[in-house]
Amino acid sequence: MSAEWWREAIVYQVYPRSFADADGDGQGDLRGLISRLDHLSGLGVDAVWLSPFYPSPLADGGYDVADYRDVDPRYGTLADFDRLVAEAGARGIRVIVDIVPNHCSVEHPWFREALRGVGRDRFIFRDRPNGWQSKFGGPAWTQVEDGQWYLHLFDASQPDWNWRHPEVVAMFEDVLRFWLDRGVTGFRIDVANMLFKQDGLPEVELPPGTPLIPADAAVPYENQPELLELYRSWRAILDGYPGARMSVAEIWYGNAEVARPYLTGDGLAQLFNFRLMPAPWSAARFREVIEESHRLAVETGGSIPWVLGNHDVPRMVTRYGIDQDLVRDPTAEVLLGQVEVDVVLGTRRARAAALLLLALPGSAYIYQGDELGLPEHLTIPAGERQDPMFERTARTFIGRDGCRVPLPWSGQATPYGFADVPVRPWLPQPEEWGRLSVAAQQAADGSTLELYRRAIAERRRHPALGDGDLTWLEHGPEVLAFRREPGFTLVVNFGAEPVPFTGTVLLASGPLDGGLLPCDTAVWLA
Ligand code: GLC
Repeated sequence: MSAEWWREAIVYQVYPRSFADADGDGQGDLRGLISRLDHLSGLGVDAVWLSPFYPSPLADGGYDVADYRDVDPRYGTLADFDRLVAEAGARGIRVIVDIVPNHCSVEHPWFREALRGVGRDRFIFRDRPNGWQSKFGGPAWTQVEDGQWYLHLFDASQPDWNWRHPEVVAMFEDVLRFWLDRGVTGFRIDVANMLFKQDGLPEVELPPGTPLIPADAAVPYENQPELLELYRSWRAILDGYPGARMSVAEIWYGNAEVARPYLTGDGLAQLFNFRLMPAPWSAARFREVIEESHRLAVETGGSIPWVLGNHDVPRMVTRYGIDQDLVRDPTAEVLLGQVEVDVVLGTRRARAAALLLLALPGSAYIYQGDELGLPEHLTIPAGERQDPMFERTARTFIGRDGCRVPLPWSGQATPYGFADVPVRPWLPQPEEWGRLSVAAQQAADGSTLELYRRAIAERRRHPALGDGDLTWLEHGPEVLAFRREPGFTLVVNFGAEPVPFTGTVLLASGPLDGGLLPCDTAVWLA
């Protein structure tokens, strides 16, 4: 791998609360993750990215950080974290941690001080709120006892930092160094396009009839020019450490031009490419997104890793198993449980999508459980839902709990080996998850886990895969096909009819029909 190892890395996202529970309290923890590292080395991933495990009231699943330099006791200790880095490192797996710089938790000591009237200018307090809306729905301002209001672009429990305050800037530099000193390889930057707010906090026109502001609206709290300077300064910190440290930014965009300024190479190492997630299962749409994104990567020299799932969007199996006209917005209310889901169809497509993902040029991120083909859990009772989005949108949006359900490791009943003791996990697991557990899929011919394993192993072995270029092949409107040199071809059949293919099969996402590629199936050819 090159010095810029991330350019072709496969990174596995762990949502710590839902990965594995070693202490049997129903919530995942770092010791649980350590005990399951062989699952990750078996998959063959280069790095693991951990969603937040910092002390937090968990009002937004830990994206409400009360202390940026510690581990929440529910997840373990700093000593556990150090062991994780060491044990992952011994398996050749790097550790990326989440940094949440736009906001903290109302429990953060500086916000508590601010409530007492000390250091309010580290946050955004005003005598009167403007009309800005929270990304989770409802007003972006909450009033405190003495009558002032503070800004929170997410939940009221997540006050936004004032990035024009030098102590805030310095504090985050210190946080970066704290984790870099402990051996992390880099950071996933949460809502990396926010942070700076335009002076004067100008009003935003909300499009009529939309409860939430769409991506790419030019709003005065996104994509402000100061961010580029900030990420250059963070890059300088990262580069001061040995071993090719990096950052990957979470920025949602629909228009590639929004991403371009971030991809110059002297700031962020990577910018997530989320554009396939809201794409309906259509060869034309997938090709359009891939062409545009690949062109952007080539033109800028940037790394835009492909993503098909994360802790914020409905799982692939479910997305591809519903009426594809509904898959416009990954957080749309279509998943309220009112729509028909064909899990068999969704699984077939999700497996084909996995082979596409791993054949694309560049880096890819895999969300925990996607390698098991888990569907979204749609029937979590309203009273057990935890995502603040659910209540903040008056239950219009089902929220993101359904993709955050604790993983099934073994056995036929909850907690499916998530914990060794018969505990109730923090979110309920569906009844039929035994057949999807790691143990059930391990070494099982045709399982989704084996498909991921083989594909990642083949990707490592094959000189055409990883970073590089692609050449489109024309195969009709319902087929997506490209070549990668030397000697690799991918064909995905999105259509309803089988299509012919030629070549030696390296791997297929489902059974083949002689020389025919069935619908919703992908094949890797030599
Ligand atoms: C990011 C996270 C999401 C969180 C939000 C606020 O989008 O991925 O889970 O709710 O930021 O921190």
